[in-house]
Amino acid sequence: MSLVKKEVLSQFAQDTIEGLGSHPKTISSKYFYDTEGDKIFQQIMAMPEYYLTRSEFEIFEHQGKEIATTMTKGSENFNLIEFGAGDGYKTKLLLQQLLNTGVGFTYYPVDISKNILQELEKELKAEFPQLEVSPLNLDYFEALKTLSKLNTNKNITLFLGSNIGNFHDHEARQFLDQFKHQCRPGDRLLLGVDLKKDPRIITLAYDDPHGITAAFNLNLLKRMNRELGAHFQLDNFSHHTFYEPISGEVFSYLVSLKEQNVSFDTLDLPISFEAYEMIHTEISKKYSIRELDVMASDLGFAVQKHFTDTNHYFVDSLWEIKA
Ligand code: AVI
Repeated sequence: MSLVKKEVLSQFAQDTIEGLGSHPKTISSKYFYDTEGDKIFQQIMAMPEYYLTRSEFEIFEHQGKEIATTMTKGSENFNLIEFGAGDGYKTKLLLQQLLNTGVGFTYYPVDISKNILQELEKELKAEFPQLEVSPLNLDYFEALKTLSKLNTNKNITLFLGSNIGNFHDHEARQFLDQFKHQCRPGDRLLLGVDLKKDPRIITLAYDDPHGITAAFNLNLLKRMNRELGAHFQLDNFSHHTFYEPISGEVFSYLVSLKEQNVSFDTLDLPISFEAYEMIHTEISKKYSIRELDVMASDLGFAVQKHFTDTNHYFVDSLWEIKA
């Protein structure tokens, strides 16, 4: 593919060129989260069909105290790192319980969205004036590199909301392995994971009748129009998703409804689509408790406890790095 009208291309532009130039076409789900995408994601979390947020909220509401005491057991001051902190809706429950333990800590929320981090910091300052907050506007892999450099305090890390599910299995293992190497034995991780369940429940969560998830997915095209001068006509694409219950993966796509060319102001050539050609945009992987136990043990973590909601839809699994 030939470009280039703009000399310095943003990471988004470079990834778009590479992703739309490959077969099958792909765009990383990390680009969902601009200001518009953040808003739509908040609507997703409030939908009755998207059980994930409610289930994890229930875990923190009913078992938050036990989670906080188990997490901080034997710790003095610690660093509380959160990957993909988002709007902090559920984390606030846990933060309150952690503050109640009386153990000192600084909270390092990591998020790719600058906008959501600024909102979060403002809200936390108002709700928990005694909490020390130090936001990190980085992607997960960049943030990993900063962990070992923070200080010598124990690291307690939150990776909630099934964010790990947006990695393929091998990527999740690679990420957790790198994470382990940036931490020390005895450091802990609370991993929020969506569990395998009746496929109909999962399917509905990603293909809701309100069209909110569709709008979330299609916002990728709008974002390319806004930021990269692309000329996608939204009516010519639709949202498609399916759940594969053996691997536990939900696959999401944008479907080109007809043969078409889409021009970009930043590229010399248009991108061509065949009728019903797909852009793969996201994977949302579900695990069983047994799969999590195997993964923890393979990677050198000891599972301290699995905290599940009453429906057994979701688990917050507490892991410790083995000596
Ligand atoms: C952020 N992530 C865990 C969500 C998920 O469930 O995979 C993103 C999402 N995609 C569609 N709906 C929600």
